[in-house]
Amino acid sequence: MGLSLWGSLLFFSFFFKHLTSLDPNTDAFYLSHFFSALRLSNSSQAHNFSSPCSWSGVVVCDSRDNVLHISASGLDLSGSIPDNTIGKMSKLQTLDLSGNKITSLPSDLWSLSLLQSLNLSSNRISELLPSNIGNFISLQTLDLSFNSFSGEIPAAISSLVRLTTLKLHNNGFQFGVPPGLLHCGSLVSIDLSSNRLSGSLPAGFGSAFPHLNSLNLSRNLFQGSLIGVLHENVETIDLSENRFDGHILQLIPGHKHNWSSLIHLDLSDNRLVGHIFHDLSSAHKLGHLNLACNRFKAQEFPQIGKLSALHYLNLSRTNLTNIIPREISQLSHLKVLDLSFNNLTGHVPMLSLENIEILDLSLNKLDGEIPRPVLEKLPMMQRFNFSFNNLTFCNPNVSQETIQRSFINSTNNCPFAAKPIVINGKKVSKKKTGLKIGLGLAISMAFLLVGLLLALRGRRKSRTWATKLAINNSELNSPEQSDSITYVKQATQIPVVMIDKPLMKMTLADLKAATFNFDRGTMLWEGKSGPTYGAVLPGGFRAALKVIPTGTTLTDMEASIAFERLARINHPNLLPLCGYCIATEQRIAIYEDLDMANLQSLLHNKADDSAPWRLRHKIALGTARALAFLHHGCIPPMVHGEVKAAAIWLNSSQEPRLADFGLVKLLEEGFPGSGELDGYTPPEQERNASPTLESDVYSFGVVLLELVSGKRPDEELVNWVRGLVRQGQGLRAIDPKMLETGSEEQIAEAVKIGYLCTADLPWKRPTMQQAVGLLKDISPNS
Ligand SMILES: *[C@@H]1O[C@H](CO)[C@@H](O)[C@H](O)[C@H]1NC(C)=O
Ligand SMILES: *[C@@H]1O[C@H](CO)[C@@H](O)[C@H](O)[C@H]1NC(C)=O
Ligand SMILES: *[C@@H]1O[C@H](CO)[C@@H](O)[C@H](O)[C@H]1NC(C)=O
Ligand SMILES: *[C@@H]1O[C@H](CO)[C@@H](O)[C@H](O)[C@H]1NC(C)=O
Ligand SMILES: *[C@@H]1O[C@H](CO)[C@@H](O)[C@H](O)[C@H]1NC(C)=O
Ligand SMILES: *[C@@H]1O[C@H](CO)[C@@H](O)[C@H](O)[C@H]1NC(C)=O
Ligand SMILES: *[C@@H]1O[C@H](CO)[C@@H](O)[C@H](O)[C@H]1NC(C)=O
Ligand SMILES: *[C@@H]1O[C@H](CO)[C@@H](O)[C@H](O)[C@H]1NC(C)=O
Ligand SMILES: *[C@@H]1O[C@H](CO)[C@@H](O)[C@H](O)[C@H]1NC(C)=O
Ligand SMILES: *[C@@H]1O[C@H](CO)[C@@H](O)[C@H](O)[C@H]1NC(C)=O
Ligand SMILES: *[C@@H]1O[C@H](CO)[C@@H](O)[C@H](O)[C@H]1NC(C)=O
Ligand SMILES: *[C@@H]1O[C@H](CO)[C@@H](O)[C@H](O)[C@H]1NC(C)=O
Repeated sequence: MGLSLWGSLLFFSFFFKHLTSLDPNTDAFYLSHFFSALRLSNSSQAHNFSSPCSWSGVVVCDSRDNVLHISASGLDLSGSIPDNTIGKMSKLQTLDLSGNKITSLPSDLWSLSLLQSLNLSSNRISELLPSNIGNFISLQTLDLSFNSFSGEIPAAISSLVRLTTLKLHNNGFQFGVPPGLLHCGSLVSIDLSSNRLSGSLPAGFGSAFPHLNSLNLSRNLFQGSLIGVLHENVETIDLSENRFDGHILQLIPGHKHNWSSLIHLDLSDNRLVGHIFHDLSSAHKLGHLNLACNRFKAQEFPQIGKLSALHYLNLSRTNLTNIIPREISQLSHLKVLDLSFNNLTGHVPMLSLENIEILDLSLNKLDGEIPRPVLEKLPMMQRFNFSFNNLTFCNPNVSQETIQRSFINSTNNCPFAAKPIVINGKKVSKKKTGLKIGLGLAISMAFLLVGLLLALRGRRKSRTWATKLAINNSELNSPEQSDSITYVKQATQIPVVMIDKPLMKMTLADLKAATFNFDRGTMLWEGKSGPTYGAVLPGGFRAALKVIPTGTTLTDMEASIAFERLARINHPNLLPLCGYCIATEQRIAIYEDLDMANLQSLLHNKADDSAPWRLRHKIALGTARALAFLHHGCIPPMVHGEVKAAAIWLNSSQEPRLADFGLVKLLEEGFPGSGELDGYTPPEQERNASPTLESDVYSFGVVLLELVSGKRPDEELVNWVRGLVRQGQGLRAIDPKMLETGSEEQIAEAVKIGYLCTADLPWKRPTMQQAVGLLKDISPNS
């Protein structure tokens, strides 16, 4: 304190020396006086006070040393400007004192009738604006923004007829806009935002400013209607955060409006009513559109497809109903999209994601899955919110915290294994799986999550069943998690039932641990009825776990009855169910993993040594027996539903064992995606129709043709073989690698059995019992 006082004393004595050396009543004198009064301390050393006109960059004088322009922006000038300083520079045209700490203006300032531009922005002036401002008849630019001016905007402002730029924003101006402002017909830019202005805009406001380009009245207390301010030249309008309560269409003067100039329109946070402009098609420059938070009537989404420049779209709380139109994906510059708090229905559409930074779809009635590309973009976004819809998503990458903030009331519906690439039922090598398990155990639990993440990446071709698997992933990862998912019982409370090992006490948590949360790496194969995982359960029991996607109408009790029934089915050619687990929305069937190979890999993956006829016949017969047992030995008959090479496993003595039987019942809605043509589907089977005994026979016929031809099954295979048989050339269908390993006659007969089983008309096909008989007749042993 003492030091600064001493400093300023020094400073003033320094000035005084110079002032005394200047002629009084010259601009140099006034200017020096001005700078000294405002304690221009910092740059004082750099300037020569005896000739201020030489201060290049700050002062411009005419030939007679009259000061014309002062740009003293950001020079740390502080305090009150005294009289007889600037106010006396009668030739002054431009005065820029912005960004200083000036606290008050001199009373003689208003006499500067030649002043064209006054910039006092960002100072600390807190006074009323006097009516004397009307003296500035030459003024073109007036910027008093970011001060503490208060009171009313004087009516005398009407004299500033040359004014083009009026910036009074961020002050404490009160009361209404003086009607006299309408005389300032040259105005191009008006910013009165962030004041406490109130009342209605004076009548004729819109038409009074034919050159108006930019209008900002944001953050005031204006009310009443918007009166045609949006004429053809206007580029920027911000009327946000007021109390305007008219009809939104009053903004437009005529009926037909040409929006081609408009760049920025913000009417948010008002009380506007009516329906928003539906036809914005000519607004091809419009980059920013915010109509949020008004009181519009229920309305459909406006047509926005042509707004190719749009980068900000905020229609939050605009009472939108119906769907988000797909054209929204054409908005390739979109950075911010806020559609929150509406009544939007339907799915989340694809968006143009290149530039998106903020996405808020919360509080609507959207349902279905969030498109995967959108999920993948989330890490690059600044903010996103999908809360309070009826959405499901699968994104194991997002943290619990994010789920709780941005996905409230959504379902994280990740299937255990998400990428059904194993279309051909390729069996994951057991060695690799074992290694993976060993490695996984060695590495700590922390990698569990990572594993799951990796497992779930790239789930592009997700099938319908994937969405039905409803183990909540968040619950998988943190059992103590609560709130939105309390309906999911904790994994440690869900028991596993082992049919023949009642003493083996396990829970779902054990199954999860054994498969590393159903990591893809532990997946053995995957079919229409769901994925199957390899696991070593406590006690060293090697199991294959089939996760069955289920609908919700089959109760847990019914599911458990169905499982118990399956467990009682015992046949040497069936892979027995040895346990099950009923979690809330999915059921897990447990089979013993006998380290077998499946027919699929036997036939199609081994290039060199081909299976001889004897083995192929054995497989065909064993499979037929298994099916005959299901169809005729069980009451009621049991449909398999997914007969195919990949479901036929061979134990060490090459005896076939048919897996995955009896799951149709548990799937109840039929196999999702059974309409997909995988080569085993009979022609009569409609999309998603339940499989039947006859469709099992057809599928078995395809397996048989696959066995004899060595070719992969597809529609062509069936048509091709059937064509050959009809022409009496069935022999040509036989796998040449097998031909010499057995009787040509027997093999040709097998082709015919395949022909019968694949009859187009279901009732023309033999029963499985008949098929067993036919196959027995051609046994290589007999
Ligand atoms: C003082 O002036 C110098 C150069 O003119 C400038 O870099 C510095 O920011 C000024 N300091 C203050 C406090 O204004
Ligand atoms: C200030 O400018 C005047 C006139 O241009 C000159 O005579 C004087 O020497 C200058 N003083 C300083 C300290 O530079
Ligand atoms: C006034 O000065 C401020 C700060 O230098 C500047 O940002 C603003 O654009 C100026 N006002 C006008 C109307 O030029
Ligand atoms: C209008 O003024 C408000 C508050 O001063 C500001 O936040 C907003 O960016 C301005 N609008 C435009 C379009 O410049
Ligand atoms: C809108 O105005 C622009 C120029 O101001 C003009 O080129 C365009 O044809 C007009 N469009 C319509 C639909 O009137
Ligand atoms: C949308 O507008 C509302 C009202 O002005 C505002 O609260 C909200 O933050 C805006 N959303 C975004 C994403 O800017
Ligand atoms: C939405 O529109 C309906 C009917 O037009 C109206 O009853 C309702 O109050 C509006 N909701 C809001 C939040 O404005
Ligand atoms: C949704 O629609 C209902 C019925 O029209 C209405 O009451 C409600 O205000 C609307 N909600 C929103 C957020 O617009
Ligand atoms: C999860 O992260 C992985 C690796 O960073 C990435 O490849 C994958 O696309 C992400 N998945 C989603 C849904 O964002
Ligand atoms: C949410 O969606 C599910 C099915 O997708 C439906 O059964 C349920 O009724 C929906 N809930 C609400 C509140 O719309
Ligand atoms: C998402 O929206 C909901 C509802 O408005 C809100 O509770 C939640 O805090 C929002 N989350 C984020 C991250 O903005
Ligand atoms: C979402 O909220 C509704 C109503 O509060 C509730 O019935 C529903 O179960 C919730 N859904 C989820 C997935 O949290």
